[in-house]
This record gives sequence, structure tokens and C-alpha cells, in this order.
Amino acid sequence: MDKVIIFDTTLRDGEQAAGAGLSAQEKLQIAQQLEKLGIDVIEAGFPISSPGDFEAVQLISRKVENSTVCALAHANPEAVDKAWEAIKKAKHPRIHVFLSASDIHLFYQLKKTRDEILQVSRDMVARAKRYTEDVEFSPMDASRTEPAYIYQILEAVIRAGATTVNIPDTVGYAVPQEYGDLITGILNNVPNIDKAVVSVHCHNDLGLAVANSLEAIRRGARQVECTINGIGERAGNASLEEIIMALKTRSDAYGLTTNIDTKQIYKTSRLVSELTGFIVQPNKAIIGANAFRHQSGIHQDGVIKKAITYEIMDPKTIGIPASSLVLGKLSGRHAFQERLAELGYTLEGEAFKHAFQAFKELADKKREVTDRDIESLIEEELRTASEVYHLDHIEVTCGDHSIPTATVRLIGPNGQAVADAALGTGPVDAVYEAINRIVRVPNKLTEFTVKSVTEGIDAIGEVLIRIESDGVTYTGRGASTDIIVASAKAYMNALNRLLATKKTRKD
Ligand code: KIV
Ligand code: ZN
Repeated sequence: MDKVIIFDTTLRDGEQAAGAGLSAQEKLQIAQQLEKLGIDVIEAGFPISSPGDFEAVQLISRKVENSTVCALAHANPEAVDKAWEAIKKAKHPRIHVFLSASDIHLFYQLKKTRDEILQVSRDMVARAKRYTEDVEFSPMDASRTEPAYIYQILEAVIRAGATTVNIPDTVGYAVPQEYGDLITGILNNVPNIDKAVVSVHCHNDLGLAVANSLEAIRRGARQVECTINGIGERAGNASLEEIIMALKTRSDAYGLTTNIDTKQIYKTSRLVSELTGFIVQPNKAIIGANAFRHQSGIHQDGVIKKAITYEIMDPKTIGIPASSLVLGKLSGRHAFQERLAELGYTLEGEAFKHAFQAFKELADKKREVTDRDIESLIEEELRTASEVYHLDHIEVTCGDHSIPTATVRLIGPNGQAVADAALGTGPVDAVYEAINRIVRVPNKLTEFTVKSVTEGIDAIGEVLIRIESDGVTYTGRGASTDIIVASAKAYMNALNRLLATKKTRKD
């Protein structure tokens, strides 16, 4: 069977989504999980765009072993040189050069002629080729560009050394038939197209990114660019999990394979959601909370008799854990450890001890501890592992006839405990004010959401916040059965990410 190359751009196009904001360490964590997932090419970032992006791409290039690490560059010499500088230590480096091609972009944005664009594209691909064999070129806004001009550009860049030519539907304007025709046209009209892989890159403005990508693959494209959970600019990019599971579930229709280990999909999705702070909608295909839940009696009856009646995929193939037994306060270390392993976590030594204690405390408050509770608990453990300030103690008084007052104690960078108190307009405000009096980093709270992880009055509450400092957004998450404590933890998480980023910038 023919193979499709999976190019993941979660760390570049995905991170361009408003408010995603990942630190270099977080990007590395995602890159390493992408490698486990079996991604062929990881687009790690856009090195010339910021020192933070440069640093992240460099870090990923040094650590990732099996996947190709790709850096984006616009078609100018400094950007191409910077891209190479960032990825030169990678085992398999790729430079991805892009330049707008549509008349709309040329006329209104670049003020350049088609001939000038053609020349620069060719020159910058040749420049990238001096550094690495593996060069990709994208004529941006290709789906709104006259096909004959696209053929001309592609022929020129392939002659200059491009080994992959990518066809972006930059603004998500294409519809499947038309986008498929463009791919067929390219395969039939670019004389040297056999020397390059045709790639597709679709945005989701009309909700067609996955449909367009699949149609392009059906017509002969052999690389697909996508993101985990479909995150990306505006309405996002084509969702990786949907493309992969469509190719797998309907292999009768496509007859194609990939290198993806589908059992890693769920874990990767959770990690990206956790670190970017973008919650996955419940009805999202493949990885949404309701994707395998059956509500109606007829469906439940069918699934109990034979899953295939209403399930076209086995949730286990995506790595969604099958909860055979529910843990509770009588469950011991062994049961907890086994469940952790089933959920894909390996915690050892102190980390395990700590997580087990947190589980016991939770089991005391909650009759049944579900997989989602355990995931939330472990994510909380992982969040606190790299803190600058740790929330040690919190006490709040509030009510309809009292002024909300909070006392907090934090453990600082040198292990010293610092306590302070503050009043606020509400209990969360009072807690945040008290923390601010200790940490003292100016910031503005821009988003605050509370949701419950599972059903029931004793459920864990998860708080997601975003804060802004010096024009950069930082996301924070916290979980607890007490939503004021969860709010404090979320704020500490966002502040710690802010402090870590500021520290790396200084270093
Ligand atoms: O959407 C787009 O055109 C892009 C290019 C940089 C490939 O992201
Ligand atoms: Zn894009």
C-alpha cells in the first residue's frame, strides 16, 4: 500500500492560534510526544519570528531523533539563514520556504509582480538547498492563485532543489472538488513533478479542511499538513486525528497507510489541550468527550449487543482507556499504578508517592474516582513539577455580609515560605490579590473559565485562565474539588509559566 507522509504543524501554525502561547520546554514536550505518535515531519516553528521560537526550534532539533524537524522561513535570505541556524543540529533537518502567490496578495500586500515572486522563490529555495537536501516550498494562498502560474512556480522551485511542494489553502476558501482538481492539474502539468512530493495544507474557515485534505490525497498528494485537535490560525488547520482515522477506518476507500501509532492519539490530544489551554469541544470527532458516548436507549442497546452496531471505530485504537474498574478509597497502590499505566503514565519514586497521596485524598472526598479524575490529578502533578512558586496553603472567607478575604502561603524559589493576605471583590479576586502581593509580576487576567471534569456534586472542578503580560498570553490550569483552590492553582500555573519564560529570555 502507498504511504502518506504526516507533517504536523501544531507547534508552528497551531501555535499561531490566538492565545496558544507555549514555552520552549512545553514545545519540546509536545514534540517528543509527536515523535511517539509516529509523525514523519514536525514543523517546530518559525525561527525568525521571535527569539522564543528560535530557541524552541533549536531545542527540539537537538532532542528529536526519528522525525524530520522542519523550520519555516519566509522567502528572504535572513529568514532562510536563521531557519538553518535553528535546525542545523537536527538528525533530519528540513527548511520550509514560503511566499505568497495569489494576485490578491501580490497586489494588496506585497506590491510585487508575478515575475519578481518567481525569481525570489527560486533564489530562496536554492539558498536553502545549500544548507540541506530536504527543502519544502509553499506558494501561499495557492487555492486562490491562477493554476497556470502555480505550475510555473512549482516547476521553477523543483528545478532549484525543492523536494516537497506544498499547496496551501491559506484562507480555507477551497471546496473539495476544486481543490482536488488543482492537485490533479499540478500532477498533470508540472513537467518535473515526479522529483517532488506534493503536499497539502488546508485551513478550516468553511469547516472543509479535512474534506479538502482527503480529496487531495485521493488525487495523489502524498504529504498532508495538519495539527493536533485541529488548532491553528482563525478556525484552525486540518485536524490530524480526523485525517488519520479516516484513512484507517476507510482504508477500503483510500488504500493508503501512515506511520502513525493511533494508540497515541488520545494522549497527544490531551497534552496539546492541556498545554495550549484549548479545550476540545465535546462533540469533536475522534477525541471529543462524547465521541464514543451513546445516549439514546436504542443505541445503548445496540452497543451492548455488538459495538459495531453504532461504533465505526474501537475507542481503544485511539488510545482511549477502557474503564473496566472504578477506583475508590479502598483501592491500593497496585490498582492505582495499573490504572496509570493503562492511561499511558509512568510515574516513579517521589512522583508516584505524591500522586498516590493526591489520589487517596480525592477518593476520600469522592465515592468513585474515574479515569478523567485520574488524568486531571496527574496533569496537576505534572504542572507543579516545574514551578518557581508553589501554592502551599490557602484560606478564604466570604459570604453575602462579609468582605472577601484571602490568606495565601507560597513556597518561593529558594524554598522559603512567604505568606500574605488581601481583600477582594470576590473570593477569587482576593486570592489573586494576595498572590500578587508576593509574586509581584504585573499582568492582566483576560479569561477565566470553570468546568467540572465529571458529573456530580463531588466532581473535580477545572479552572482555565489566561493572563497577559508585556503583550504575551499565558495559560494556566488548576484542578480541585474546591473551585477556589482550583482557581488559585490555575493562577499559580499561569504565573509560573510567565516567570519561566521571562527567565529563559534573560538567560
Ligand atoms: O496557511 C499557509 O499558507 C501557511 C504557509 C506558511 C504554509 O501556513
Ligand atoms: Zn497555514
